[in-house]
Amino acid sequence: MQGPTILVVDDEPLIRWSLTERLTAEGYRVLEAGTAAEALAKSEEHVDLVLLDYRLPDEDGITVLKRLKALDAEILVILLTADANVQTAVEAMKQGAYHYANKPFNLDEIALLVEKALETTRLRREVRSLRAIQAQPYGFDRIVGQSAPVLAMKALLRKVAASPASTVLLTGESGTGKDLAAKALHYNSARSSKPFMNITCSALPEALLESELFGHERGAFTGADRQKRGLFEAADGGTVFLDEIGEMVPGLQAKLLRFLEEKSFKRVGGAVDIRVDVRVVAATNRNLQEEVRQGRFREDLFYRLNVLPIPLPPLRARTDDLPLLVAFYVDVYNQEFKKHVNGVTQEAMGQLQRYGWPGNIRELRNAVERAMLLTDTDTLGVGDFATAGASVHLTDRVELPATGIDLEQLERSLVVQALERTNWNQTKAAALLGLNRDQIRYRIEKFQLERTPSTHTR
Ligand SMILES: Nc1ncnc2c1ncn2[C@@H]1O[C@H](COP(=O)(O)OP(=O)(O)OP(=O)(O)O)[C@@H](O)[C@H]1O
Ligand SMILES: [Mg+2]
Repeated sequence: MQGPTILVVDDEPLIRWSLTERLTAEGYRVLEAGTAAEALAKSEEHVDLVLLDYRLPDEDGITVLKRLKALDAEILVILLTADANVQTAVEAMKQGAYHYANKPFNLDEIALLVEKALETTRLRREVRSLRAIQAQPYGFDRIVGQSAPVLAMKALLRKVAASPASTVLLTGESGTGKDLAAKALHYNSARSSKPFMNITCSALPEALLESELFGHERGAFTGADRQKRGLFEAADGGTVFLDEIGEMVPGLQAKLLRFLEEKSFKRVGGAVDIRVDVRVVAATNRNLQEEVRQGRFREDLFYRLNVLPIPLPPLRARTDDLPLLVAFYVDVYNQEFKKHVNGVTQEAMGQLQRYGWPGNIRELRNAVERAMLLTDTDTLGVGDFATAGASVHLTDRVELPATGIDLEQLERSLVVQALERTNWNQTKAAALLGLNRDQIRYRIEKFQLERTPSTHTR
């Protein structure tokens, strides 16, 4: 990435020349403009700081200052004034100038002023990102769970976070914590002081997503009246989280693959290759292998992403964690709702553990939140979780279809579902069906059930 860009605006070529000489020598990229109109045109490219002459042939400095600030509130402007007029200086500061300098100026003074101005914004940006980190604790401890699958997943996340890995694929059903994991990966890596940028690939139409990711040059398409940096550029040194990667349209998949392989890209409508250093964390709740088979996802991109897959286990495969997770959320909502709930009854916990949680941890969180909002007692009971798992409560009876039903088939289907849901843990599967282990073993043999290799992306 290049150093900061400075725009020098003055109608006197000699002044422009001397400033440009000096600032270029200091390592800045310098653009020049002789008129207000030219200055505004040049600022359509990304500019960090403007040295602005107060007296320009076509407009006065204050007006130009206002325009520049309206286009980019973060732009730094140092006003150069020939007559040391206090009024002008005050007005300039009021309009958001960083500072002003009197003409004739000393080049050393200007160089120092520029350096200080750029340093101030750099610090301001850093403090802002520090505050963001502290306000949102994304430590690995935030990922609650002590069960074997979660401990394994956390160990893998830790390793990958500390590694130089540039591409990571998080897979898991909705609500299993992919967002949380992506943030933990970033904020516990050497990249943590740099930006974490997040985009949902299904949320934007193709053209918009492309310019969001890669940026665009001015005039690249109708409406592109300014040059724009994309996410990959903005996140340089940090992490880009591409959520719902499975939904990315094929055209963009190809461009993403090129970027992952070459670490460089062109802005939309641009000719130069831009090189950045970002870690790409992609997430999907789809089975990408299946998407590849169906021709909806590029196989080469899948293999590129799948170098480091981290599968997040569904909640039903880690029901041992339910007590801990429930305690965690009871604590969260005690604080939020100013309540003093101390836990859930054994009976309620049993019910929660038998339920399949298709919405995973998000669903559990919502169930606890709702129970905490509505309860009048200090211990949450079965009644407080009335809706959690309502769909699996066979209250009085199952309606027999008019066409009848094959009881053996139904039994077989339920046994298979119970085994799949518990990852073939026979004790747990039996519990789901109200059977003991011998009874479920008998049925496994009767139906000649066999554990098929997992079809999930690994
Ligand atoms: N292990 C965990 N411990 C505590 N909270 C968790 C855990 N995993 C997920 N959560 C919480 O569950 C909710 C859903 O998690 P998250 O948004 O990360 O899921 P997701 O996998 O990104 O889901 P989706 O595919 O729907 O986007 C969040 O509130 C998150 O904080
Ligand atoms: Mg998510």
